[in-house]
Amino acid sequence: MLETLTRIQTIRDRVRAWRQNGLRVGFVPTMGNLHRGHLSLVEQARAAADRVVVSVFVNPLQFGPNEDFDRYPRTIEHDTELLAGAKADVLFAPTTFEMYPNGYERSARVDVPDLAGILEGHVRPGHFEGVATVVTKLFQIVQPDVAVFGEKDYQQLVIVRRLVQDLCMPIAVLAGATVRDHDGLAFSSRNRYLSARERNVAPRLRDALHVARKALLEGERNYDALQLAGLRDLQKAGFAPDYFSIRQAADLLPPREDTREVVVLAAGRLGTTRLLDNVRVQIR
Ligand code: PAJ
Repeated sequence: MLETLTRIQTIRDRVRAWRQNGLRVGFVPTMGNLHRGHLSLVEQARAAADRVVVSVFVNPLQFGPNEDFDRYPRTIEHDTELLAGAKADVLFAPTTFEMYPNGYERSARVDVPDLAGILEGHVRPGHFEGVATVVTKLFQIVQPDVAVFGEKDYQQLVIVRRLVQDLCMPIAVLAGATVRDHDGLAFSSRNRYLSARERNVAPRLRDALHVARKALLEGERNYDALQLAGLRDLQKAGFAPDYFSIRQAADLLPPREDTREVVVLAAGRLGTTRLLDNVRVQIR
């Protein structure tokens, strides 16, 4: 039976009781408007733990002043049904006041330097400080043994891994593969902003990543040329691209001669909607 909790004290009590019984606790943080991508993470958490907590919290600290915080889709009733169906144990859905009693603008922050300022962080200043801060708070509240994050937000995943390592948090971070619609578009809560025409164009983001992937697998090593070609593909498709970048998968630094695991990351606007995606490539 899914139980919905909104208070920090209550969820702490619940988790403490589980732990006293020797149960492993899994955690999936989300901002709600759940889709199949989120649910696959819940499934992965269930496989790795005895009890699963899912949080739904639209974190104001990770949105810029001109971003979509106010219109971000909030569908808590539907989310609750989906989580009950996915056999999560607890839905943690705190208010903004519960999470930021002193106001989010004045909250203590967690910074992951270097990683937070590149790619997404360059386009969205402050975004990853907001993510790192809320993830740290949620980890302190839930105190899970394992937490699952999607590869869809690849830079976020790398930052969370770093944060856990640097701040000595006793939490195993698992990565969930990106779940896609039939035409390759990655599921995202923001897809619902797309017009029918934009929805038809949106899979071209993933197509552009696959062109780069194929070239890398065939031995192409001129990363600058691939990046420029990717940007052009996106422009031709109708995107206003922010970046198309080939990086080392482990730390998002530029690839070196001996790098084997790379990730191609791309993001851009289609109309007023920002989409991002990535693909990992193992090169020989
Ligand atoms: P949100 O965008 O709701 O995503 C929650 C989790 O679902 C993230 O780990 C994200 O990578 C994963 N996810 C999203 N789409 C996915 C897909 N198509 N396939 C697989 N996984 C997918 O990311 C956030 O919320 C927030 O930044 C959060 C971490 C909750 C902090 O506020």
